[in-house]
Amino acid sequence: MSGFDPDWLALREPFDRAAREAAAQAAHLPAFAARLHERRGPDAALQVLDLGCGTGANLRVLAPRLGGAQRWRLVDHDPRLLAALPEVLRGWAAAQGWRADGRAQGVRIEGPALSLDVAWQQADLAGDHDGLRLDGADLVTASALLDLVSADWLARWIARCHAAGAALYFALSVDDRLHWRPADAADDEVQALFRAHQRRDKGFGPALGGSAVHAALPMLARAGYRCTTCASDWQVDAAQGPAHRAMLAAMADGIACAASEQEPAAAGRVQAWRDRRQASLAEPSALGLVVGHTELLAWLD
Ligand SMILES: C[S@@+](CC[C@H](N)C(=O)[O-])C[C@H]1O[C@@H](n2cnc3c(N)ncnc32)[C@H](O)[C@@H]1O
Repeated sequence: MSGFDPDWLALREPFDRAAREAAAQAAHLPAFAARLHERRGPDAALQVLDLGCGTGANLRVLAPRLGGAQRWRLVDHDPRLLAALPEVLRGWAAAQGWRADGRAQGVRIEGPALSLDVAWQQADLAGDHDGLRLDGADLVTASALLDLVSADWLARWIARCHAAGAALYFALSVDDRLHWRPADAADDEVQALFRAHQRRDKGFGPALGGSAVHAALPMLARAGYRCTTCASDWQVDAAQGPAHRAMLAAMADGIACAASEQEPAAAGRVQAWRDRRQASLAEPSALGLVVGHTELLAWLD
């Protein structure tokens, strides 16, 4: 869980997708998509910028829901993740029965209800991102990024998006809710340390962590955005099979590792908590976990 290696992104993608599918109606996505297309005008391609794209999971969820012609620009600082994009995107398109043509630094995908021009670029969003042009962007989006950034960073991006007239969609921001089933006596202590670790600097200044959406809402309102939010929680349940069990194991390890780093004096208790969680995975158990996330959509009338 510590870095953003492709294996971790692949492990979380089905949980992300299920959470976002379940949230799509509550997020009023069809109306959001219709508004974007209406502003852009008939037959013109929507211009979408995806920040911290990883291996493109946000596009795979969002592009089919936006529909029609779209031009995506994917940005990440990690060249390993960007290098995986052509194969991952072509594989995804093929699995849908769509055509995909590779191009230098991009892929074109054609399906019955959408056509996508996808290009990517390496950039450090924490640094001087003024070089990333937003002119013409209809939508600036990011999934699982907002909780990593600082309030200052977010305020600057909201100002830039507002100046460009772009809508915003921040998907899958953690919101501090973590519920294990069954509960363990050490859950509260371990999770408090984990939440504090999520607020450490992730390269963008002090991270907003689980308060990211709460921090963003008044900033967006002051800039004149209308907003909607809804829950997009991971539902992880050992009884659902190996992918769920692998996620539970990774979460127990990741939470324990972050909690011990946050408070080395508590490492013994944290390790014992981790061992109990891992041991219960080795038994037929009803181990489950809900990880709270929030979708945040914002647009200008
Ligand atoms: C939690 S991952 C989410 C990836 C992808 N959006 C998804 O939903 O699977 C966060 C992403 O932000 C990227 N990231 C983190 N810091 C960054 C920075 N300073 N500049 C650009 N990308 C960054 C990471 O490389 C990673 O791909």
